[in-house]
Amino acid sequence: MATVLHLRAETKPLEHRSCLTPTTAKALVDAGYEVRVERSPQSIFDDKEFEDAGIPLVPTGSWVDAPKEHLIIGLKELPVDKFPLVHEHIQFAHVFKQQRGYQDTLSRYQNCLYDLEFLNDANGRRVAAFGYYAGFAGAALALEIWAWNVSHPDEPYGVVKPFPNEDAMITHVKANIEKAKAVNGGVEPRVIVIGALGRCGSGSVDLCRKVGLGEESILKWDLPETKKGGPFEEITQSDIFINCIYLMGKIPPFITKESINADKDRKLRIICDVACDPDSPFNPVPVYDVWTTFEKPTADVTGIESGPPLSVISIDHLPTLLPRESSESFSSQLLPSLLQLKDRETARVWADAKKLFAEKKGELEL
Ligand SMILES: NC(=O)c1ccc[n+]([C@@H]2O[C@H](COP(=O)([O-])OP(=O)(O)OC[C@H]3O[C@@H](n4cnc5c(N)ncnc54)[C@H](O)[C@@H]3O)[C@@H](O)[C@H]2O)c1
Repeated sequence: MATVLHLRAETKPLEHRSCLTPTTAKALVDAGYEVRVERSPQSIFDDKEFEDAGIPLVPTGSWVDAPKEHLIIGLKELPVDKFPLVHEHIQFAHVFKQQRGYQDTLSRYQNCLYDLEFLNDANGRRVAAFGYYAGFAGAALALEIWAWNVSHPDEPYGVVKPFPNEDAMITHVKANIEKAKAVNGGVEPRVIVIGALGRCGSGSVDLCRKVGLGEESILKWDLPETKKGGPFEEITQSDIFINCIYLMGKIPPFITKESINADKDRKLRIICDVACDPDSPFNPVPVYDVWTTFEKPTADVTGIESGPPLSVISIDHLPTLLPRESSESFSSQLLPSLLQLKDRETARVWADAKKLFAEKKGELEL
């Protein structure tokens, strides 16, 4: 009997991404899986796109009544509720690191929760992650807001809306950089990306290139460049700082309020903290302590003594800004593992994930 995957419609407000796309759903069907896709009013993929790929559509929310042996796949958390979850679920649940309310949520999973955050390859690296498009979108937003602030010094930037696709984002940001350059003496911004060799960092660098910045305007730093220890003047001397490092422990800060105020010729106007660890005691960007949102994408860095205002973007769901491409990228990274689902009892990636679930459930019962 074919293994059946049931893609549930996302319910988290403003979540337009999808764990399966018409392309990856079709690849699963071609490999002998049965895939059902719930009609979704909020997915970036129209129901018709799945239909055109030959995938049967089922009613929104129908996973609850699906046969027990069907695998339920989705992206983000389920709505808070109490009924027991009798299926195997594949999703991000944010309960394995003892996040707020984890006991109630985790105890609902009666069968298995394969948490996408913990699906690792043989080297312990995530099989699928959204990093590239987080960095890409973060850089777009940083450049967009830099351009807005230069061209509209007295008007705050408004609400951020997702883009239908990457081309639309690039065309939009590029045009606004050109407008800003016109009032900036024709000079393009200098961007420093730290963690430039990683998933997020390479996305940031690619975006900068795609909107037309010259190589000399993109400082690409990774471990060798920060080895000397911060704070770094190269940051306050750039217009935009994008932090994309994977924080492993205590490191000297890259920038501090003191280093900002010490640079009397500061250029820096925008920090985009893609890594976004404001609550970590090791945060290498300790000049702010809040998360920002699409509704209000920036927070002011306070305590600035002179020079232009300085804003920070610290949005922890940046890939949502490009739901189509980020879903396509994530889902295709996940596909080789999904293709092993029929053998999930023995396939290492799924067997490990199941073992982790059992451990976490076990800890709950202690
Ligand atoms: N804001 C969002 O929406 C969002 C989305 C996805 C990921 N993230 C976060 O972004 C961070 C990076 O994720 P990733 O997938 O790109 O990680 P990654 O492991 O692919 O890349 C991290 C890079 O940082 C570099 N690095 C680590 N410490 C450094 C240091 N001290 N100095 C210079 N470079 C250093 C590494 O060498 C590596 O190249 C993670 O914290 C992740 O949780 C945020």
